Formats: sequence, C-alpha cells, structure tokens
Amino acid sequence: MTELKTIFITGAAGGMGSSTAKLFKEKGWFIGCYDINKGNLENLEKELGNNNIIYGQLDVTDKGQFEECLNSFSLKTKNKLDILFNNAGITEGGFFEEIPYQNHINIININIIGVINGIYSASKLLKNTPNSLCISTSSSSGIMGMEMIATYSATKHAVKGLTESLSAEFSRFDTRVSDILPGVIDTPMISNEIKSNLPKDGIWRLISSSEIANTVWESYHSNKIHWYVPRELEALEKQVAESPEKTMEKLKKSGPLSSDS
Ligand SMILES: NC(=O)c1ccc[n+]([C@@H]2O[C@H](COP(=O)([O-])OP(=O)(O)OC[C@H]3O[C@@H](n4cnc5c(N)ncnc54)[C@H](O)[C@@H]3O)[C@@H](O)[C@H]2O)c1
Repeated sequence: MTELKTIFITGAAGGMGSSTAKLFKEKGWFIGCYDINKGNLENLEKELGNNNIIYGQLDVTDKGQFEECLNSFSLKTKNKLDILFNNAGITEGGFFEEIPYQNHINIININIIGVINGIYSASKLLKNTPNSLCISTSSSSGIMGMEMIATYSATKHAVKGLTESLSAEFSRFDTRVSDILPGVIDTPMISNEIKSNLPKDGIWRLISSSEIANTVWESYHSNKIHWYVPRELEALEKQVAESPEKTMEKLKKSGPLSSDS
C-alpha cells in the first residue's frame, strides 16, 4: 500500500500518456498506466519497470472494465486518487461523409463516453482525496470546429464543456477539474505527412509530448481550468469569439489540416 501521491493515466502507452508516466515517475509518484494496447503497455513496462507503477489493459468505452481497473488501483493507494488523467483518444481525418459511419461512433465512444466513464467511476476516489485533480485531454479543435476532423472536433468541444460544468460541481468536494488543449504534438497520432507539412513556428508548430507531461504537472499545482499548449492558442479562442467567419477562413488557409494545403 502506497503513501505516495497517485495518478491514473488512460492512453498511457501512447505519446502523451507515456511522457506523463515518465515525468511522474521522476517526481516519485505512484502511477497507474492503462491502455487498450497490450503490446505498447508491455514495452512501457520494460522501459519504466514496476516499482510504484501498475499496468493494466483497459478499454475506456467499457465502464465495467474501468471500475475494475480503478478498484485494483485503489487497493494499492488506500482509496486515494490525486490525479485522474483522461487522456485516451483516437482520431480519423477526412471529409465527414467519406468516413465510415461506425468510425464516427468509435471516435465518440472513446473520446467522450470514455471520459464520462472515467470521471463517473473515479468520482468516489477523487472525493476521498483532498485537493484532487481530474484532467482530460481536449484539443485545439475543441476551441473551434476544424474541417477534416469534424466528429473528433465535436468530441473535444464536449470534453471542454464537461470540464467547465464539472469544475463548478466538483468544487463542493475539493476536486479541481481541468483540461489540456494541445495544438499539434509529436506523437504517433500525427502522421509523418502532417508532421512534415507543419510550419517551424507559430501555433501549429510540432511540440514535444514532454510539454504535455509538464502541463499535467503544472496543472496539479494551480487552479486554472484550461491549459493551452502552446499558450498562444488562447488567442485563437478570443479570435473565434470575435469573428468565427474570419478565423475559419484563416484556418482554411493555414490550419494544420487545411483542405487547401
Ligand atoms: N497528438 C496531437 O497532436 C493531439 C492534439 C490534440 C489532442 N490530442 C489528444 O491527446 C490524447 C493523447 O493522444 P496522443 O497524441 O498521445 O496519441 P497516441 O495515439 O500516441 O495515444 C493515444 C493512446 O490512447 C490509446 N487508446 C485508444 N483507444 C483506447 C481505448 N478505447 N481505451 C484505452 N486506450 C485507448 C491508444 O492505444 C494510445 O496508446 C488523445 O485524447 C488525443 O485526442 C492529441
């Protein structure tokens, strides 16, 4: 049974999740690494070892499985959970009507139902832990609807809305609720083709996943709700509020997934 601070990470075997697990290991936390991808979890285990880290296969769309994973985690942590990091997600690019219908549903199931499953199942542990944090990965496409990733973008707006609502509700039991809105992060989710077409600077530059890990760390020590990576993305939100038409036009020409490029 651990006395250490604790973090439960979904999508832990992926780019942002594994960077976060690495940072929190360095910081001396107890970590739960959960992912649907067994092979990648095994590779992570080889890299990080199992001193104060547990690993488990989890499909976030399955609420029963989520509860089981949280149960086995809480047996090691005296029913404490300092950070729940809802990070698992998938995407698929393409024109809306050309993406198979079932793929849209899978994106919704993983990116928003998966987050709801996590928060719902972990709420008792979060309640039981003073100053706990529930943080989820939204996206820059949660700031403004982006072409070629319409359903993905809709799920990330949903994560942002859920975060705001719950940050108000959960304050009654000392749990903070936040989200991260990343631009383009260097992980397996981003194809090499997209990576090679990105500008070297500006908001659509390619950013290391270690910046996301640092942001999770920083967010635990702050009361901010939304974390923009890079920070300049906050300005995009202001532009959208002032003129969605102009901002959309600008994104069409220079956004990371622009159909004009
Ligand atoms: N990479 C980017 O530029 C970017 C930008 C904005 C937001 N995001 C979001 O960041 C989060 C992390 O993505 P990443 O960039 O590290 O990508 P990634 O593909 O490297 O990692 C995602 C991880 O989620 C896991 N996963 C997928 N479906 C799952 C399920 N049903 N249950 C449990 N785990 C599942 C995958 O196996 C993978 O390990 C995602 O929510 C993604 O939407 C990424």
